[in-house]
Amino acid sequence: MLAHPDPPSPRAWWKSAIIYQIYPTSFFDSNGDGIGDLNGIHAKLDYLKDLGVDVVWLSPIYCSPLADMGYDISDYRNIDPRYGTLEDWDNLLQGAHQRGMKLMLGHRFSSFTPVNHTSDEDNPKRDWYIWRPGKQVDGKRLPPNNWKSVFQGSAWDYDENTKEYYLHLYVSKQPDLNWDNPDVRDAVWDVMRFWINRGCDGFRMDVINIISKVEGLPDALVVDTSQYYQSASMHFANGPRVHEYIKQMHAEVLSKYDLITVGETPFTHDASQLAAYVLPQNKELNMVFNFELMDLDSPDYSPLVRKAWTLAEFKDVIRRWQQFKRDEGYWNTVFIENHDHARSVSRFGNDSNEWRAISAKMLCILEVTLTGTLYIYQGQELGLRNFPRSWGLEEYKDVASQNYYNLVRVQRQKAEGREDVDMSDLLDHFQQKARDHARTPMQWDSSPNGGFTTGEPWMRVNDDYANWNAAAQLQDPDSVYAFWKHAIEVRRQHDVLVYGSFELKLPEHQQVFAYTRVLGDSEAIVVMNFGVNEAEIDPARLGDLDACRSILRNYGASRDDGGRRLNLRGYEGRVYLKQVFSPGCAQN
Ligand code: GLC
Ligand code: CA
Repeated sequence: MLAHPDPPSPRAWWKSAIIYQIYPTSFFDSNGDGIGDLNGIHAKLDYLKDLGVDVVWLSPIYCSPLADMGYDISDYRNIDPRYGTLEDWDNLLQGAHQRGMKLMLGHRFSSFTPVNHTSDEDNPKRDWYIWRPGKQVDGKRLPPNNWKSVFQGSAWDYDENTKEYYLHLYVSKQPDLNWDNPDVRDAVWDVMRFWINRGCDGFRMDVINIISKVEGLPDALVVDTSQYYQSASMHFANGPRVHEYIKQMHAEVLSKYDLITVGETPFTHDASQLAAYVLPQNKELNMVFNFELMDLDSPDYSPLVRKAWTLAEFKDVIRRWQQFKRDEGYWNTVFIENHDHARSVSRFGNDSNEWRAISAKMLCILEVTLTGTLYIYQGQELGLRNFPRSWGLEEYKDVASQNYYNLVRVQRQKAEGREDVDMSDLLDHFQQKARDHARTPMQWDSSPNGGFTTGEPWMRVNDDYANWNAAAQLQDPDSVYAFWKHAIEVRRQHDVLVYGSFELKLPEHQQVFAYTRVLGDSEAIVVMNFGVNEAEIDPARLGDLDACRSILRNYGASRDDGGRRLNLRGYEGRVYLKQVFSPGCAQN
């Protein structure tokens, strides 16, 4: 008998749950205005249930000026009319619950967008934001410090009325809330209770690690000498009081309900900093999204620029997080896509027509065989890919893309002393890395606009919808969708895939990613070829494959099973299961 009859971290429904992230604007439009909406999501609940989804997570649907696609919230307790009404939300919740699914809300508590920006001195809510006087340098007024907005330019905006600046770490319409003010925190707890009382089952908390800033708001270190404003995450990410505030959130709200909670924690690759949010004895959140893997293929200075990555790095990041503080109960999130990143098949698989489906299925094998709560992003289950290079800048709707493009263009214009500078290299990068690729409308069928809307879609649908869509894949037993559905079922049947320990095999292999997972008396062996060329490996180095059966594979059975060499075809992935007490089970 092996040593661990039970996982060190106790089982919980939200650990084995399959979460599906919906980007409402691009999911399904029920009324022909070109924008996805709540009734549209309602109409697709059976689709989600059929896939095997347990929890539906909605990106923000609250009233918003849409400066950052709804992550700029102007009414925490109401639905933006574009998406519907509170009643539609109630119906959606009911529809999900009737099907045995839960509903989790994306919320952003780090900033708030007041409708009337009445910033006068004696506004009682003035101290809900972060105000500072500017500084005078050589007779010129400058913002209070050199912090750069994540979306470029200064992180401060000047208010003529009161002659002070307010802080916005993202767009101007997202003034940061002053969490040091206890009234702000109370208001946030109230908002949470409002949605919990309405029946919501949990929260995805946007950039929750930036709610406490370093005392005195000191200048950021100058790293980028090409501009005045500097990235300041060292002064606002995981700040001095953040854990105090989240512990308070837990005590006041979260501890009273059986919720699923996940924090978005960007700017942080240091695992020990993230542990504090997650370790159960700290009583903060169930889990967080760490972005080390997602940041692998870009340089530090911009997530929109592509950097080459190696499988060695990819394996190393995954291995470290899979093993991280497992004995202390650290719990991972497993995800490779969301609304802030390009499509995974285009980044980590191979989105050519030849390899697209098979590599999307291999990435699915990766996802369903890792420990942590599994998150699928809309369209990932279809193997949706980035839109093509032939699309121009006007198709990139995201403020992050537009602002970065403008910044670089102006820099080049200055440097080259002329207007018409060559920007094609940046568009090459955007084609690989922009967030826009995740935000194209869902491809439901082969009708115009992929069946997403009967009107004009707010964003262009990817060109391949006529033959790459949900309707076609639902009918094809070999489709990426069918594979995901089956793979989810396999994960559900084998707790070892959710809770087991992780050990890397063949660490030196340049093209093959292999590992084992062990829980109690069951052991799973996972092997994947991250390349188009065949890869040959010695099966003995993976374990005793003769005592295993195959439980998941993206190619049909192959000739060499049980042989002395294992030949993996391009992007082939396999999962074997060994049962100590039922040895010698047949191969298939
Ligand atoms: C979060 C959201 C992202 C948004 C950003 C700023 O990171 O996931 O979509 O742009 O916050 O609002
Ligand atoms: Ca609509």
